[in-house]
Amino acid sequence: EKADLKASILEVNKTAAKYFYAQLKSPNGMQAYTYLKNRSLSDEMITAFGLGYSNKYSDDLYKYLRTKGYTEELIRKAGLVNTDERHGVYDKFWNRVIFPIMDVNNRVIGFGGRVMGDGKPKYLNSPETVVFDKSRNLYGLNRARTSKKPYFLLCEGYMDVISLHQAGFTNAVASLGTALTLGHASLMKRYVQEVYLTYDSDDAGTRAALRAMPILKEAGISARVIRMDPYKDPDEFIKNLGAEEFEGRIKAARNGFLFSLEIAEREFDMHSPEGKTAFFNEAARRLLGFEEELERNNYIEAVAKKYKVSEESLRKLVSKTAVREG
Ligand code: UTP
Ligand code: MN
Ligand code: MN
Ligand code: MN
Ligand code: MN
Repeated sequence: EKADLKASILEVNKTAAKYFYAQLKSPNGMQAYTYLKNRSLSDEMITAFGLGYSNKYSDDLYKYLRTKGYTEELIRKAGLVNTDERHGVYDKFWNRVIFPIMDVNNRVIGFGGRVMGDGKPKYLNSPETVVFDKSRNLYGLNRARTSKKPYFLLCEGYMDVISLHQAGFTNAVASLGTALTLGHASLMKRYVQEVYLTYDSDDAGTRAALRAMPILKEAGISARVIRMDPYKDPDEFIKNLGAEEFEGRIKAARNGFLFSLEIAEREFDMHSPEGKTAFFNEAARRLLGFEEELERNNYIEAVAKKYKVSEESLRKLVSKTAVREG
C-alpha cells in the first residue's frame, strides 16, 4: 500500500518535472530561461539538473496532471498543489524557476522554486512527503556520488551546487538551507571520509558551519572549512573570481577545529594578557575533546604553532585543565 503510494508519487513528480522542463524551453518560459542565462548557467547544466519553469496560470500544472490521469488525491500527496475553500485546488509553484530535487537514484523526490526577482519567499520548496525526507537527502548527490574526489563540497543552496558543477567541481552537494543532520552526514559517509564546508560568508553561514562540525565528527567525517569572502557564497565567488581561485580556496581550507578556534577568538580581547590567557584556557578545554592522545598531541602542536606559543606550555595547560575539569 505505502510502497504503491511512493511509486505513484515518484511517477507524478517525474511527469511534473518533465512538464516544467518543457515549459522552460517553450515561449512561455522565455523570462525564466533568460533569468538562468543571466545567472550564467549553460544549457548543459540546465539539462543536467533538469531545471524548469512553472507557468503564470495558477492551475496550469494541476490541469495538465489531471489530463494525464493522476488523481487529485495523489497530486496533493505529492505536495504539488495546495487547496483552500476560496481558491479550490491550485499549483504550489507559480511563475518560478524550478529546481527538481533528485535522490541518489535520480528519482524526483521534490522541487524548489525561485522567484525571478526580489519577491518573497525567495525559494518555495516541496513539503516533506512519503518520498521526500529533507534530513536524509542532499541536493546534487545524484551527480556528486560519481565524482572522483575523496571529499564533498557541502554548500547551502541550489545555485551554489550548479555553479560549482559547471566550474568542474562535480563533488558539490547542498543541504538546501536546512541545518545539517546526522542523516545527511551518514549519507555522505557512504561516499567520502572528508567534507569541506562551503557555506555562505554571512554570520548565518559561519554559525551553520560551527554547528555542522560536531555532526560530521559524530558520523566519522573530518571537516574543513572554505571561506568565500569577500563574496557571499560559492556561486558569486565562482562568478567573480573563477574556478582557479576557488581551487586556491580549497587548497587553503582550514581545519575545522582551527576554524572554530578562530571564531572563538572573537569572544576574547586578544590584545590583552588577560584576554589571551582566557582564550588559551578555552582552547585547552576544547583540546580535551580529542580523546586519542596522538590526535590531541597533533592539535596541541598545530594550535601552538598557529598562536605562536610554546608547545610545552600549551601541553601543560591542557594537562592542568584535565585535572581541574576532573
Ligand atoms: P540563500 O539565501 O543563501 O540563497 O539560501 P541562495 O542559495 O544564495 O540563492 P540565490 O543565489 O539568491 O538564488 C540558501 C538556500 O536556503 C534555501 C534554499 O535552498 C537556498 O538555496 N532557502 C533560502 C529556502 O528554502 N527559502 C528561502 O526563502 C531562502
Ligand atoms: Mn541560509
Ligand atoms: Mn545564505
Ligand atoms: Mn546565492
Ligand atoms: Mn547564498
